[in-house]
Amino acid sequence: MSKIICRDKIFVIETENTHYVIGIDNEGFNRHVYWGKKCDVNDYEIDYNHGENAHNTVLDEITQEYTVFGSTMYRECALKANFADGCREVDLKYTGYEQNGNTLSLNFSDTYYPLTVTLNYKAVDGLDIITRWTTVKNTGSESISFEKLFSAELTFPSKKPYRFKNTNGSWGGEFLETDTELKGGSLAFQSRGGVSGHNNSPSFIAYQNADEKVGDVYFASLAYSGNFKVSASRDLYNTTRVLLGLNDFDFEYLLKAGESFDTPKVFCGYTCGFGEMSRQMNKFVIDCIFPKPYNKTPLPVLYNSWEATYFDVNSENQCALAEKAAEIGVELFVMDDGWFGGRNDDNAGLGDWFVNKEKFPNGLSELIEKVNSLGMDFGLWVEPEMVNPDSDLYRAHPDWAYHYPHRTAHELRNQLVLNMTREDVQEYIFNLLDTLLTENNIKYFKWDMNRALSETGAENLEVPKMLWYLHTKAVYDIVDRLKAKHPGVTIESCCSGGGRSDLGALQHFDMFWTSDNTDGIDRMTIQKGCSLLRPTKAMRAWVTGIEGINKPCSLDFRFAVAMQGSLGVGGNLTKYSDEDLQICKKNIALYKEIRDIVQFGDLYRILDIEKDEVLLNQYVNEDKSKSVAFLLANGTRFYKKRMPICFDGLDENKRYRLTIQNNTYEKSGAYLMNVGIPLHIRGVDYNEIIILEEIK
Ligand code: DGJ
Repeated sequence: MSKIICRDKIFVIETENTHYVIGIDNEGFNRHVYWGKKCDVNDYEIDYNHGENAHNTVLDEITQEYTVFGSTMYRECALKANFADGCREVDLKYTGYEQNGNTLSLNFSDTYYPLTVTLNYKAVDGLDIITRWTTVKNTGSESISFEKLFSAELTFPSKKPYRFKNTNGSWGGEFLETDTELKGGSLAFQSRGGVSGHNNSPSFIAYQNADEKVGDVYFASLAYSGNFKVSASRDLYNTTRVLLGLNDFDFEYLLKAGESFDTPKVFCGYTCGFGEMSRQMNKFVIDCIFPKPYNKTPLPVLYNSWEATYFDVNSENQCALAEKAAEIGVELFVMDDGWFGGRNDDNAGLGDWFVNKEKFPNGLSELIEKVNSLGMDFGLWVEPEMVNPDSDLYRAHPDWAYHYPHRTAHELRNQLVLNMTREDVQEYIFNLLDTLLTENNIKYFKWDMNRALSETGAENLEVPKMLWYLHTKAVYDIVDRLKAKHPGVTIESCCSGGGRSDLGALQHFDMFWTSDNTDGIDRMTIQKGCSLLRPTKAMRAWVTGIEGINKPCSLDFRFAVAMQGSLGVGGNLTKYSDEDLQICKKNIALYKEIRDIVQFGDLYRILDIEKDEVLLNQYVNEDKSKSVAFLLANGTRFYKKRMPICFDGLDENKRYRLTIQNNTYEKSGAYLMNVGIPLHIRGVDYNEIIILEEIK
């Protein structure tokens, strides 16, 4: 059970295994006291052992929960505000706290100006994850403008350097892990293109002496899909801290008289090892982040038409694909790009969300009825935030795209971005999607977003720089409105693959498209990086016709990779041989048996394809009675992979039955985890799905 203990201006947030401690010092400053393993709650106290000289000040030295720009504070701070009379500094003093169950709110007011700042903390039972966010309120009669408004500042206890994991990706190469030691100075992970993006993740993992099972691991993930910044630093006092939140790049937020603003949330935790970190985040997202009511419903096996027919979709070829998809066991048929307006390639049509009558003479209903009659739900691709200059929408409303009157609006993928901060644009998009859902039996949208923002003139706004925040908010709002009006509809977040796959997106969307790279070998690495702080269920993974960019992988191999997420199929099934269709059918049937364990179970990353040449990922259900392990090898070298395979996450005292390399074993959990099963792993395409079942 979690609880919050408040005593003499010391606040202890107690989670399952950790303490997060905040204090208020003699001068009314918020202080970060401690974060880590539990100690005696009565022992925590504020450290007054500080000194200053003319260049390095006490304010710079102390550890705070949230620092504001002003006075003698010189390091990167969490908040910077400008008041109407020209004062650019904030001076906060503590005014009191509120506790509501497991939520703690610490209140601060400026000593002169009408600004209050509330630091919010929420603990959950059973996990070591704390939600943090900040609320600012303008209690006066004139506007306050913010240049920086981060969600949280986090400080780590050790004075030794921490290593930081993040991802450094791109289109087709999402979630590639990076690992950097921060000895001094600062390190920033960020996005500036209007979405959380492919490059860095809006999160951090700071660790010392850690691997999957041991070591100190501090982590946090920001729930925001727009421009973010994660700024880590190690100062001259050897203190390592991180600020996370809305990027201060081209940022301004105007808080009018009487208004308040909640920053995006940060979910942070401290665990022993990376494995526990991922398992806790996985559970947390399922219980507390995913949109309800489908948070605990397994995702269906989908078919997506993109790699089969690209823009060349029509009633005939989609019906033919649907027949094959139903035959192999698909539950949801999604038609991708190309079905609307003048969309024959990526030059035209975006914005005209009306069915193309040449491709679908009888509208969408003919295809949808066919799909439904085959026992599948129907889903549709859309890219609502975009417009092609060659479209009726752009011809009618050229001013609806972001632009500056005297600058050329850059096209990327031949398209412009709609000014989502305009109410008329929001209504146009909502109404079109609403009509599609009202007039057709559509159960699923794949909501795509295929370019970064540029020339972001937004003349409609009093403060144009607020567009970055308001664009993201408009997307979330439309998704929420559609779902409220059409219960039963789920929506996938896609951004040229995994460019919008953050936990902010997952508060509204139900899942994300992970990467357009469906190569079996590359995917193992992409999925590993993805699994660090993102939930398994949200990770859509298709088996397509791509046999291998690097080297051919069998269909079974590609299934064994894709079945480690939410399985989909994306190849041109009409060209598959009967034998291949049987392989699809067999794997999809198996996936349906194990998907509850994969999508909701605990993941143990036992062997890493990059480090070990072999991948062994094991998923275990809640009562440890059933588990599934995926063992794959990317062609091992030197014939050396003769080794015992040890499992993880099992109950030591239970006995399990498993078949591996055609031999059946009955062993205790303790044996399987400590002694293991001796194997010889070789060949270029080694793949095995191992089911472990408790013998009752
Ligand atoms: C990018 C997505 O990642 C693809 O899956 C596909 O939907 C295309 N866009 C369609 O244009």
